[in-house]
Amino acid sequence: MANPIEQLGERGVVPVVKIENADCAPGLADALIAGGLPCAEITFRTAAAEDAIRSIAKSRPDLLLGAGTVLSVSQAKRAVGAGATFLVSPGFDPKVVDWCRKNAIPILPGVATATEILMALDAGLTILKYFPAEALGGVRMLESLGAVFAGVKFVPTGGVTASNLAAYLRLPAVHAVGGTWIATAKAISAGAFEDITRLTGEAVAIVRSERKSGGWV
Ligand code: 3PG
Repeated sequence: MANPIEQLGERGVVPVVKIENADCAPGLADALIAGGLPCAEITFRTAAAEDAIRSIAKSRPDLLLGAGTVLSVSQAKRAVGAGATFLVSPGFDPKVVDWCRKNAIPILPGVATATEILMALDAGLTILKYFPAEALGGVRMLESLGAVFAGVKFVPTGGVTASNLAAYLRLPAVHAVGGTWIATAKAISAGAFEDITRLTGEAVAIVRSERKSGGWV
Protein backbone atom coordinates (compact mmCIF):
# COMPACT_ATOMS: atom_id res chain seq x y z
CA MET A 1 0.00 0.00 0.00
CA ALA A 2 1.22 3.52 -0.77
CA ASN A 3 2.58 5.69 2.00
CA PRO A 4 -0.42 7.44 3.67
CA ILE A 5 0.99 10.87 2.84
CA GLU A 6 1.20 9.89 -0.81
CA GLN A 7 -2.39 8.66 -0.57
CA LEU A 8 -3.47 12.13 0.56
CA GLY A 9 -2.57 13.28 -2.94
CA GLU A 10 -5.14 10.88 -4.37
CA ARG A 11 -7.83 12.24 -2.04
CA GLY A 12 -6.94 15.86 -2.83
CA VAL A 13 -8.43 17.20 0.41
CA VAL A 14 -7.63 16.44 4.04
CA PRO A 15 -10.40 17.37 6.50
CA VAL A 16 -8.63 18.90 9.52
CA VAL A 17 -10.63 18.16 12.62
CA LYS A 18 -10.82 19.55 16.15
CA ILE A 19 -12.97 17.23 18.21
CA GLU A 20 -14.08 18.07 21.74
CA ASN A 21 -15.76 14.77 22.57
CA ALA A 22 -14.47 11.40 21.38
CA ASP A 23 -18.02 10.03 21.40
CA CYS A 24 -18.59 12.10 18.26
CA ALA A 25 -15.72 10.38 16.42
CA PRO A 26 -17.60 7.47 14.78
CA GLY A 27 -20.36 9.82 13.55
CA LEU A 28 -17.77 12.17 12.12
CA ALA A 29 -15.95 9.29 10.38
CA ASP A 30 -19.21 8.02 8.89
CA ALA A 31 -20.13 11.52 7.68
CA LEU A 32 -16.80 11.84 5.85
CA ILE A 33 -17.12 8.35 4.39
CA ALA A 34 -20.70 9.08 3.25
CA GLY A 35 -19.47 12.24 1.54
CA GLY A 36 -16.88 10.23 -0.37
CA LEU A 37 -13.74 11.23 1.53
CA PRO A 38 -12.56 8.55 3.95
CA CYS A 39 -9.75 10.63 5.40
CA ALA A 40 -9.18 12.86 8.46
CA GLU A 41 -6.48 14.64 10.38
CA ILE A 42 -7.51 14.72 14.05
CA THR A 43 -5.67 17.58 15.71
CA PHE A 44 -4.05 17.41 19.13
CA ARG A 45 -5.78 20.61 20.13
CA THR A 46 -8.21 18.98 22.50
CA ALA A 47 -7.99 16.45 25.30
CA ALA A 48 -10.28 14.17 23.26
CA ALA A 49 -7.92 13.87 20.27
CA GLU A 50 -6.16 10.70 21.35
CA ASP A 51 -9.38 8.84 22.21
CA ALA A 52 -11.00 10.05 18.99
CA ILE A 53 -8.08 8.64 16.96
CA ARG A 54 -8.26 5.35 18.87
CA SER A 55 -11.99 5.10 18.29
CA ILE A 56 -11.83 5.74 14.53
CA ALA A 57 -8.74 3.55 14.02
CA LYS A 58 -10.56 0.66 15.65
CA SER A 59 -14.03 1.05 14.20
CA ARG A 60 -13.33 2.55 10.74
CA PRO A 61 -10.01 0.97 9.69
CA ASP A 62 -10.47 1.95 6.03
CA LEU A 63 -10.38 5.67 6.84
CA LEU A 64 -7.00 7.25 6.16
CA LEU A 65 -6.31 8.57 9.65
CA GLY A 66 -3.68 11.06 10.73
CA ALA A 67 -2.94 13.15 13.80
CA GLY A 68 -2.45 16.89 13.42
CA THR A 69 -0.97 19.72 15.45
CA VAL A 70 1.69 17.31 16.68
CA LEU A 71 4.07 19.60 18.57
CA SER A 72 6.34 17.16 20.42
CA VAL A 73 7.80 13.67 20.34
CA SER A 74 5.56 12.69 23.24
CA GLN A 75 2.44 13.69 21.27
CA ALA A 76 3.81 11.85 18.24
CA LYS A 77 4.16 8.67 20.32
CA ARG A 78 0.63 9.02 21.73
CA ALA A 79 -0.83 9.63 18.27
CA VAL A 80 0.85 6.59 16.75
CA GLY A 81 -0.03 4.48 19.80
CA ALA A 82 -3.68 5.43 19.29
CA GLY A 83 -3.62 4.38 15.64
CA ALA A 84 -2.70 7.42 13.56
CA THR A 85 -0.92 6.31 10.38
CA PHE A 86 0.60 9.69 9.59
CA LEU A 87 1.44 12.82 11.55
CA VAL A 88 1.06 16.50 10.68
CA SER A 89 2.79 19.40 12.39
CA PRO A 90 2.31 23.14 11.87
CA GLY A 91 6.09 23.60 11.75
CA PHE A 92 9.36 21.80 11.23
CA ASP A 93 10.65 20.35 14.52
CA PRO A 94 13.84 18.34 13.93
CA LYS A 95 13.19 16.23 17.06
CA VAL A 96 9.74 15.15 15.86
CA VAL A 97 10.99 14.59 12.30
CA ASP A 98 13.94 12.50 13.56
CA TRP A 99 11.68 10.37 15.73
CA CYS A 100 9.37 9.76 12.77
CA ARG A 101 12.26 8.81 10.51
CA LYS A 102 13.70 6.38 13.06
CA ASN A 103 10.29 4.76 13.53
CA ALA A 104 9.24 4.84 9.86
CA ILE A 105 6.22 7.03 10.63
CA PRO A 106 5.12 9.26 7.73
CA ILE A 107 5.25 12.94 8.73
CA LEU A 108 3.96 16.03 7.01
CA PRO A 109 5.82 18.91 8.67
CA GLY A 110 4.73 22.50 8.19
CA VAL A 111 6.88 24.99 6.31
CA ALA A 112 6.36 28.69 5.70
CA THR A 113 9.65 29.81 4.10
CA ALA A 114 12.24 28.71 1.55
CA THR A 115 14.69 28.13 4.42
CA GLU A 116 12.33 25.70 6.12
CA ILE A 117 11.76 23.89 2.83
CA LEU A 118 15.55 23.45 2.59
CA MET A 119 15.59 21.98 6.12
CA ALA A 120 12.84 19.54 5.18
CA LEU A 121 14.64 18.52 1.99
CA ASP A 122 17.77 17.93 4.04
CA ALA A 123 15.72 15.56 6.21
CA GLY A 124 14.64 13.69 3.07
CA LEU A 125 11.06 15.01 3.00
CA THR A 126 9.50 16.24 -0.23
CA ILE A 127 5.79 16.48 0.65
CA LEU A 128 5.25 19.38 3.06
CA LYS A 129 2.37 21.19 4.70
CA TYR A 130 2.32 24.86 3.71
CA PHE A 131 0.93 26.74 6.70
CA PRO A 132 -0.81 29.14 7.17
CA ALA A 133 -1.38 29.17 3.42
CA GLU A 134 -3.68 32.14 2.84
CA ALA A 135 -1.95 34.39 5.36
CA LEU A 136 1.43 33.63 3.77
CA GLY A 137 0.37 34.66 0.29
CA GLY A 138 -1.69 31.73 -0.86
CA VAL A 139 -1.69 30.67 -4.49
CA ARG A 140 0.76 33.38 -5.61
CA MET A 141 3.32 32.44 -2.98
CA LEU A 142 3.03 28.74 -3.81
CA GLU A 143 3.52 29.50 -7.49
CA SER A 144 6.79 31.24 -6.59
CA LEU A 145 7.98 28.47 -4.27
CA GLY A 146 6.93 25.76 -6.72
CA ALA A 147 9.01 27.38 -9.45
CA VAL A 148 12.13 27.17 -7.29
CA PHE A 149 11.60 23.81 -5.58
CA ALA A 150 10.88 21.41 -8.41
CA GLY A 151 9.99 18.04 -6.94
CA VAL A 152 8.54 19.45 -3.72
CA LYS A 153 4.80 18.98 -3.21
CA PHE A 154 2.77 21.09 -0.82
CA VAL A 155 -0.37 20.61 1.25
CA PRO A 156 -1.58 24.19 1.74
CA THR A 157 -3.61 24.56 4.91
CA GLY A 158 -4.98 27.61 6.71
CA GLY A 159 -7.66 29.69 5.05
CA VAL A 160 -8.55 27.11 2.40
CA THR A 161 -12.29 26.73 1.78
CA ALA A 162 -14.62 25.52 -0.98
CA SER A 163 -14.24 28.92 -2.65
CA ASN A 164 -10.47 28.80 -3.19
CA LEU A 165 -9.96 25.03 -3.23
CA ALA A 166 -9.95 24.78 -7.05
CA ALA A 167 -7.33 27.53 -7.40
CA TYR A 168 -4.98 25.61 -5.10
CA LEU A 169 -5.62 22.26 -6.77
CA ARG A 170 -4.73 23.74 -10.15
CA LEU A 171 -1.16 24.39 -9.02
CA PRO A 172 1.18 21.60 -10.13
CA ALA A 173 3.06 21.88 -6.82
CA VAL A 174 -0.05 21.15 -4.76
CA HIS A 175 -0.35 17.57 -3.52
CA ALA A 176 -3.62 18.07 -1.60
CA VAL A 177 -5.13 20.79 0.56
CA GLY A 178 -6.10 20.71 4.22
CA GLY A 179 -8.79 22.61 6.06
CA THR A 180 -11.34 22.73 8.81
CA TRP A 181 -14.20 24.04 6.68
CA ILE A 182 -15.57 20.56 5.92
CA ALA A 183 -15.99 19.45 9.52
CA THR A 184 -15.88 22.38 11.91
CA ALA A 185 -15.58 21.84 15.65
CA LYS A 186 -19.02 23.41 16.00
CA ALA A 187 -20.67 21.07 13.49
CA ILE A 188 -19.06 18.01 15.09
CA SER A 189 -20.11 19.01 18.61
CA ALA A 190 -23.64 19.75 17.39
CA GLY A 191 -23.85 16.37 15.65
CA ALA A 192 -24.53 18.15 12.33
CA PHE A 193 -23.26 15.15 10.39
CA GLU A 194 -25.52 15.70 7.38
CA ASP A 195 -23.94 19.13 6.91
CA ILE A 196 -20.49 17.55 7.13
CA THR A 197 -21.44 14.96 4.52
CA ARG A 198 -22.78 17.70 2.22
CA LEU A 199 -19.62 19.81 2.54
CA THR A 200 -17.48 16.71 2.04
CA GLY A 201 -19.40 15.87 -1.15
CA GLU A 202 -18.96 19.45 -2.42
CA ALA A 203 -15.20 19.26 -1.84
CA VAL A 204 -14.96 15.86 -3.54
CA ALA A 205 -16.86 17.26 -6.55
CA ILE A 206 -14.37 20.11 -6.84
CA VAL A 207 -11.43 17.68 -6.67
CA ARG A 208 -13.08 15.54 -9.36
CA SER A 209 -13.65 18.47 -11.66
CA GLU A 210 -10.05 19.67 -11.24
CA ARG A 211 -8.60 16.21 -11.72
CA LYS A 212 -10.67 14.93 -14.60
CA SER A 213 -7.80 12.78 -15.71
CA GLY A 214 -8.32 10.27 -12.91
CA GLY A 215 -7.02 9.76 -9.42
CA TRP A 216 -8.72 8.24 -6.45
CA VAL A 217 -12.05 10.14 -6.50
C1 3PG B 1 -4.60 23.62 10.53
O1 3PG B 1 -4.89 23.02 11.52
O2 3PG B 1 -3.80 23.15 9.72
C2 3PG B 1 -5.23 24.94 10.26
O3 3PG B 1 -5.46 25.62 11.44
C3 3PG B 1 -6.51 24.81 9.51
O4 3PG B 1 -6.84 26.09 9.12
P1 3PG B 1 -8.33 26.47 8.69
O5 3PG B 1 -9.14 26.44 9.95
O6 3PG B 1 -8.22 27.86 8.12
O7 3PG B 1 -8.79 25.47 7.69
